[in-house]
Amino acid sequence: MKREHLRLFIFQIFIVSLLFLGLLLILTPLTAGGDRIITVLLLVGVYMSTIFLFYQVFLNYIRPVKAINDMVDALLQGNYKVRAQEGFYTDTGKLQASVNQLAKHLQTLNRQEKMHHRQLNSVIENMESGVMLIDGQGFVHLVNRKFLELFGREKIDVEEHLYYDVLDQERIYHTVQEAFLYEQTVKDSIIHKKNLQSYYIEVIGAPFFNSSGDLRGVVLVFHDITDLKRVEQMRKDFVANVSHELRTPITSIKGFAETILDDEFNDPNLERKFLSIIHKESDRLQTLIQDLLDLSKLEKEAFDLTVQPLMVTELLEECIDFARLEADKKSIAIETEIIPDVSIKGDYPLLRQVFLNLIYNAINYTLENGSIHVSLKANESWIKVSIKDNGIGIPQEALDRIFERFYRVDKARSRNTGGTGLGLAIVKHIVEGHHGFVEVESELNKGSIFTVTIPREQVEI
Ligand SMILES: Nc1ncnc2c1ncn2[C@@H]1O[C@H](COP(=O)(O)OP(=O)(O)O)[C@@H](O)[C@H]1O
Ligand SMILES: [Mg+2]
Repeated sequence: MKREHLRLFIFQIFIVSLLFLGLLLILTPLTAGGDRIITVLLLVGVYMSTIFLFYQVFLNYIRPVKAINDMVDALLQGNYKVRAQEGFYTDTGKLQASVNQLAKHLQTLNRQEKMHHRQLNSVIENMESGVMLIDGQGFVHLVNRKFLELFGREKIDVEEHLYYDVLDQERIYHTVQEAFLYEQTVKDSIIHKKNLQSYYIEVIGAPFFNSSGDLRGVVLVFHDITDLKRVEQMRKDFVANVSHELRTPITSIKGFAETILDDEFNDPNLERKFLSIIHKESDRLQTLIQDLLDLSKLEKEAFDLTVQPLMVTELLEECIDFARLEADKKSIAIETEIIPDVSIKGDYPLLRQVFLNLIYNAINYTLENGSIHVSLKANESWIKVSIKDNGIGIPQEALDRIFERFYRVDKARSRNTGGTGLGLAIVKHIVEGHHGFVEVESELNKGSIFTVTIPREQVEI
């Protein structure tokens, strides 16, 4: 480029030189003597001034304008780093300075825009919800990582495709159509099957507009609400179970009380029997409510253990002495193998509840004349308490479920022993609260072993 206008300049100089040479050739023969010398000197002077003038024009106008021109071309092509060399005095010098300012401005804007773009991109990419951007024609312009993960798709099979070719759920079509039609945010939920699993997904369709308020497309956002649904279902099941458990003793209390209150009822023996049933059923209600209260206390987010140093040896012996009364009734022997002087840090009343629950279960689910074996082992960091019985045992398929609330292998048997189906759920909560775990091994009709392992120190996790 530079060379090109230099060539133009030389060409102009050449024309001017020719002109002056012509003038010189014409005027010299017409003059003579001293006049001739003056004429030649004059012509040479004018020639030199013209060349100088040309050079100034070239230097101050042609070259800078050309440079600005080149610079604007570069800017148009997205190269915001170019700058023109600044001249100080002429108008073109000022123009160059202004254009440089403009370029600098553009460069900053461009840098900011790139940064915003990167930030926005990383926000969208790393969102915990799936995102899909659909234009007015229904073409997908953008999807994020979570979307691809949720629907098990590849980016190239989704972007630039029509949304209804990508998603096959009727309800999503409705969401998109309603968002377009009513120009309002629409919410719905779908069940999506992936790898033989069902996912609950909330779909939100939000229309988006340009600055003049014209509808440009719809953004779809997908939230995975499977865990929420599961919790909701568990809550519903729990409420149903509690109502069911409460209904049985209440119905029985009500029935017997009504019978006793009947005018025609006057059998003192039967009355006593019914009253004792009412008493037993109210006991059951009380236990059930106590267990429910214990469980809800343990499940509270802010529940804290009251950790203090305690002797496990003594705690276990206390529990066994307490339970022996019940064991004696069924002639069940309780053997122990408890190492002395083992201390840990834990919550005394809660751990007492754990061991009592397990020992009572062992008694309740063992036939008369059976035997129970309680052992305590320890190393520097852990204690291990095992409660083994030779009772009725637990079927293999039920082993995973016995720690669930209200799960009982044999409802009638559990009820006869005053069980609520909540004991092991409480045990599990307390042990896990101590950063430990409960294990169970069992063989039907042979017996079961429940083992509780707890760290000796309670470190904050
Ligand atoms: N030692 C055991 N032997 C056999 N079955 C047991 C034993 N411990 C618990 N189970 C089974 O696990 C179920 C749940 O126990 P738990 O939560 O303590 O409730 P429950 O109030 O019925 O005792 C019991 O109903 C019983 O079927
Ligand atoms: Mg129990």
